[in-house]
Amino acid sequence: MLVLEIEDIKQLISKIGYKNFFLELIQTLEEDYSNWEKFDKIPRVASHVDGGVIELMPISNDELYSFKYVNGHPKNPKQNKMTVMATGQLSLTQTGEPLMYSEMTLLTAFRTAANSAMAAKYLAPKDSKVLTLIGTGAQSEFQYLAFSYIFELEEIRFYDIDPKAMKKFEKNISKYDIKLTPCKDAYQASQGADIITTCTADKRYQTVLTKDMIKKDVYINGIGGDCPGKTEIEKELVDSSTIVCEFLEQCKIEGEIQQLPDDFKCTEIYEIIRGEKQINVETHGTILFDSVGFALEDYSVLRLIYNLAKENNIGKEMILIPELNDVKNLFSLLTHDNK
Ligand SMILES: NC(=O)c1ccc[n+]([C@@H]2O[C@H](COP(=O)([O-])OP(=O)(O)OC[C@H]3O[C@@H](n4cnc5c(N)ncnc54)[C@H](O)[C@@H]3O)[C@@H](O)[C@H]2O)c1
Repeated sequence: MLVLEIEDIKQLISKIGYKNFFLELIQTLEEDYSNWEKFDKIPRVASHVDGGVIELMPISNDELYSFKYVNGHPKNPKQNKMTVMATGQLSLTQTGEPLMYSEMTLLTAFRTAANSAMAAKYLAPKDSKVLTLIGTGAQSEFQYLAFSYIFELEEIRFYDIDPKAMKKFEKNISKYDIKLTPCKDAYQASQGADIITTCTADKRYQTVLTKDMIKKDVYINGIGGDCPGKTEIEKELVDSSTIVCEFLEQCKIEGEIQQLPDDFKCTEIYEIIRGEKQINVETHGTILFDSVGFALEDYSVLRLIYNLAKENNIGKEMILIPELNDVKNLFSLLTHDNK
C-alpha cells in the first residue's frame, strides 16, 4: 500500500508546479463532477464535540472508493494546533483493497481552493480583478493561488480579526505580483470586490458578510460556514443571492442555507459544469457558492495524487495489509509459516 507523507506531497507538487497542479486538479474535479450519478453519495458523518467537529467523508463509484478523516476545531490555534487536519484513503471498489493512505491537511487546502476556483470559473464575472479574502488563516494563500490561475487578478483586499494572521498572509503573498490591501474590517475589505471568499473559523452563527456591505453584484465564495450552527453570511444576504451548492442534501445540514426553510432548493455545481444550467453574476446578480466541502473533491484529489505519485515514483510502499500465500491462513503471520 502506498503511503504519502507531507514531504512526499510537497516534493510532488513542487516538481509539477503549483499552476500545473491546480489546473490538473480543476480538470479532475470537473471530470468527476460530470459523472455525478455514477457516485454513491451520502452527507458526511459528523461527530460533534464541544467547540468542534470530527467528520468522515466517504464516496465511491464502480472503480474507486475514498474517505477522508477531517476535523474542524476553531479554538485549536489557541493551543498552537491547526483548526483543520486531515488524512485519507483510496481503495479499489471491486475488491476493497486499499491502494493508498495519505496526509490530507495540505491536500484539503489544495482541493478546496481548486474547487473554489473551478466554481468561480463558471459563476463569477469573467473579468474579475479584485479578490477579497475575509479570514487569512491556513486556507487563505491557497485560495489566492487557485484564483490567480483562472482570473487576471490585480488586487487582494483582506481582513482577519487576528492582526498576526493578516501579517502572515501579507508576507507569504508579497512575492507575487499583486497589489495587497490590508483592511480594518470586513466592510472595507468588501468594497470594490468582484469575488469575496469568506474563510473564517468560529463555531457559531457569525455575520462576517452582511447585505449592506455589498454595493454591486458580486460573486461570494463562502467556505467557512460548513457545520450545523456555524455560518458566516447574514441571512438577508443569503436570501437575496442566487445560490449554488455542491451537494444539496449535505449543504442543507451544514451550509449557509441551513438558515433557510427546509424545503429550499438550489442548483448543484455539477449541473453548471455539465452545461445543463447557465448561471453567472452578469446574468443573475449576486451569487453565493455555498461550499461546505464534499467527499467527491477528496476523491478527485486522491485519485490525481495517486496517479502522479506512481508516475513520479514518490511515496513509500508499506505493508499494512497482509501478503499471504494462502489467503485463508492469516494465522501463518504469527507462526512465521507464510511460505
Ligand atoms: N468548504 C470547504 O471545503 C472547507 C475546507 C477547508 C476549511 N474550511 C473551513 O474554512 C474555515 C477556515 O479554515 P482555516 O483552515 O483557514 O482555519 P484557520 O483557523 O487557520 O483560519 C481562520 C481565520 O478566521 C479568522 N476569523 C474568525 N472569525 C473572524 C471574523 N469574524 N472576521 C474575520 N476573520 C475571522 C481567524 O482569526 C483565523 O485567522 C474553517 O471554518 C474551516 O472549517 C472549509
